Amino acid sequence: MEFSDFGTKLSSHSGILQLMDDIARPLPDGVRCRPLGGGNPARVAQVEQAYRRQMEKLLSSGEDFENLLAHYDSPQGRVSFLEMAAGFFRRTFGWNLTSANIALTNGSQSAMFYLFNLFSGTARGRKKTILFPLMPEYIGYADQGIEEGTFVSVPARCEYYGDRTFKYQLDADAVSAYLDGHDEVGAMAVSRPTNPSGNVLTDSEIRTLAELAHRHSIPLIVDNAYGLPFPDIVFTDDAQPVWNEDIILSMSLSKIGLPSIRTGIVIARADIARAVGNINAIAALATGSFGPALAHEMLESGELTDLARNVVRPFYKEKAARAEALIRKYFEGTDYYLHRIEGSIFCWIYLPSLRIPTLEFYSLLMEEGVVTVPGEYFFFGGAVPYPHEHYDKCLRLNYSGDGALVEEGIEIIARKYRQWSK
Ligand SMILES: Cc1ncc(COP(=O)(O)O)c(C=O)c1O
Repeated sequence: MEFSDFGTKLSSHSGILQLMDDIARPLPDGVRCRPLGGGNPARVAQVEQAYRRQMEKLLSSGEDFENLLAHYDSPQGRVSFLEMAAGFFRRTFGWNLTSANIALTNGSQSAMFYLFNLFSGTARGRKKTILFPLMPEYIGYADQGIEEGTFVSVPARCEYYGDRTFKYQLDADAVSAYLDGHDEVGAMAVSRPTNPSGNVLTDSEIRTLAELAHRHSIPLIVDNAYGLPFPDIVFTDDAQPVWNEDIILSMSLSKIGLPSIRTGIVIARADIARAVGNINAIAALATGSFGPALAHEMLESGELTDLARNVVRPFYKEKAARAEALIRKYFEGTDYYLHRIEGSIFCWIYLPSLRIPTLEFYSLLMEEGVVTVPGEYFFFGGAVPYPHEHYDKCLRLNYSGDGALVEEGIEIIARKYRQWSK
């Protein structure tokens, strides 16, 4: 028996596999677990109560529940939800779209897999690529290209500030020069807010990218898994959601409390939305009906976005502030820098004096029960080792979990960093 190239590539070890494995795998007996690793969102009581109310309504309303269980939705997604969502986005943002511009997927992870492979790989004899214009980027993209060598990237510029923080910035000239010299680029992609750094590309940076995409007749894929209007885990003021026919916007219900239900929402030109639906038919027949059914009324009435703005955002903002205070307290006196936490559920620390790569540091922390994600996995689409000073010196920490465990984790990381500093 022999696996194909596709089979071998997609079934091999990957950073995202390790991360998802770490979420679910228990540590050895007697080791207390401080889970600062994978991307599980927090449980937020008010949000959970709202879903419970919706579920109870569904269960007590005639045969709605049985009807929900008993039928496949269309490959592009639950038609009533697509129509409602189109109305919602038209009303809320003035976007000129209809239900034909929306496709649902089983989570935004699979949406990105479909989109990357729609726009990269061999096309009419040429190998097309996806350009990530601001590296580091989300670990979950790194291995999604079916063909080898289809992801390319431009390293982020970095600005350091006097208060031990830093921020990644788009190197627009380098991105523009890359596009001018490489007409095989089939699409650009960013996460906004960015996983892992918590960076939020500004409105002006997004405008620049959208203009470049337009000029080169390629789409700009914006992964809005943490963005507005839901879950709205954004702490800056210049991060308006944008959509036009040059942009493919990917959204998700995961970070607003429904990671298990696997609902991604793609907003794109009608032919692209249809293509996503067609891939759904082949790969999965249809998308799950449960997420759209549960969220339908909440999105239509504004309850979901109100919860995002008034409950979810403040909840994470407070958690982020606490994580930052803890990092400042325990890392005091060491050589560390923290990326400004502008959004998402992560903080990203740069440890320039670390004597060993973070892949090794991660294993030492694991022995102490602290689960993190080593930075190397977030640098892809270029040479290995990746040409960025942060490549093997950063850790991603999920700050959204239990307060005591987050504090213990940060204290142990700082103690170990002192031990392993130059
Ligand atoms: C930036 C980003 N995009 C996409 C995803 C995938 O989320 P889901 O498939 O649950 O919608 C995640 C999950 O952590 C993420 O952080």
